Amino acid sequence: PPAPPAMLVIFGAMGDLTRRLLVPALVNMTRLGLAGDGLEVLGVGIDHGDDATLREALDSFAPEPGGEGAAEKDAAWTRLRDRVAYLEGDFTQDAVYEALKARLTGNAAFYLAVPPRFFGDIVDKLGEHGLTTETPTAFRRIAIEKPFGHDLASARALNARILAQVGEAQIYRLDHFLGKETVQNIMTARFANMMIERVWNADCIANVQITAAETVDVGTRGKFYDSTGALRDMVPNHLFQLLAMVAMEPPASFDAEAIRNEKGKVLKAVRAWSPAKAKRNGVRGVYTAGQIGDRDIPDYTASPDIAPDSRTETYVALKLMVDTWRWAGVPFYLRTGKAMKCRDTEVVITFKPVPFASFHPSNAERLPPNRLVIQVQPDEGLSLDLLIKQPGLGVDTVPIALDFRYADRFDIGHLTGYESLLYDMFMGDQTLFQRADAIEAGWAAVQPFLDIWAAEGAPDPYPAGSVGPDAADALLERDGHVWHMIEAAKP
Ligand code: BG6
Repeated sequence: PPAPPAMLVIFGAMGDLTRRLLVPALVNMTRLGLAGDGLEVLGVGIDHGDDATLREALDSFAPEPGGEGAAEKDAAWTRLRDRVAYLEGDFTQDAVYEALKARLTGNAAFYLAVPPRFFGDIVDKLGEHGLTTETPTAFRRIAIEKPFGHDLASARALNARILAQVGEAQIYRLDHFLGKETVQNIMTARFANMMIERVWNADCIANVQITAAETVDVGTRGKFYDSTGALRDMVPNHLFQLLAMVAMEPPASFDAEAIRNEKGKVLKAVRAWSPAKAKRNGVRGVYTAGQIGDRDIPDYTASPDIAPDSRTETYVALKLMVDTWRWAGVPFYLRTGKAMKCRDTEVVITFKPVPFASFHPSNAERLPPNRLVIQVQPDEGLSLDLLIKQPGLGVDTVPIALDFRYADRFDIGHLTGYESLLYDMFMGDQTLFQRADAIEAGWAAVQPFLDIWAAEGAPDPYPAGSVGPDAADALLERDGHVWHMIEAAKP
């Protein structure tokens, strides 16, 4: 069914997020019948202009001419366009909220597509002006982008500040990884398949690897990135969402609170390392000049808006332990970096070797383990490595892969990932949004690394176009493991 009539108030209407993701997602929702004519968009921004200005600014998102579904998207945008309005004003000032009050009657969702330093102020003002008070016929919801906090203390403070104005049930903390089809599928793959869940534990699994390798460099995002770094940008949010999906216990039902309880529990079970252990279990790197395809990448520190003596990391690899019965003793290795060899977001589960290979005992130690690769992007899919008998005489084994690619069966390419998130927000389903406790648990687990690195010098260099610093390999070799190879998507 289409989402109920509501006004989506976007703070930061002229910004990049609105143009690149929110409006395209709203267009797709309109096209797919997920948003009816009752959906209105009110953009708030400081730039001088009127409804026509915003509509024109948003025209630029338009689908590539001749691209897939372009005509349909055009038609959907034409429908939606008339319901886009602009409210000029400074959201740090009261006047804008009074103006908003005069316009809002029924359901409203406030989307904070603004720099994080404004999150607290905007929510305070919304509360003070009575805009967050719900009635039986009007919901009032707040969508907040990442980064949510800068460390554990600031995330706690921000949660406390927001929760002083609105209830948890009104807050939709976004992590766009949760809008990805393949991320949502992790739960389905685990809990809809008997043969997977039975071996999904420390008895059978040797280690879990979670990788988000990117080829993009810092580009023009220096201002944001240099004060953030790879750890804060990717780990307590995106990578921990993947970790939670992989490591959580089966929820007793598929309602939002049941799922969020399990995710919260497992994130709280990620061990917070002592400073000495954090030093041993974390690697950080920074890229230096190199080449990726035909792109020449300069040193990170030579990029715009980066301090020449910057100590910010563009790569991080961590070893974490999840202290539960299910995962006792199983290392979780996480890594993410910019300007790497290829784009590859994946979860790799490596199983333990068979205890005894009766058919070929002398070979037992050399049998490669079973491995499940959940390819999040690009080239979304699932692949399971098994051993079979090498055809012919004798009993030699040979690894083969059972390979499933989404593209072979489904068309999931044209969505932004924000469609399901926005739709769920309008429908009041918080499953794919982060609750306060999960956010804080994520920060608590990375805080030991933030603390020790705050006092350290420059990260280990790695050339742009490589797989990261050598120390990341050593992190696994110590435990007798190796990273799954970062590979370019298959053509
Ligand atoms: C964002 C980070 O949250 O996620 C970016 O700020 C990163 O630095 C991006 O590039 C990765 O998202 P995706 O969907 O491209 O994997």
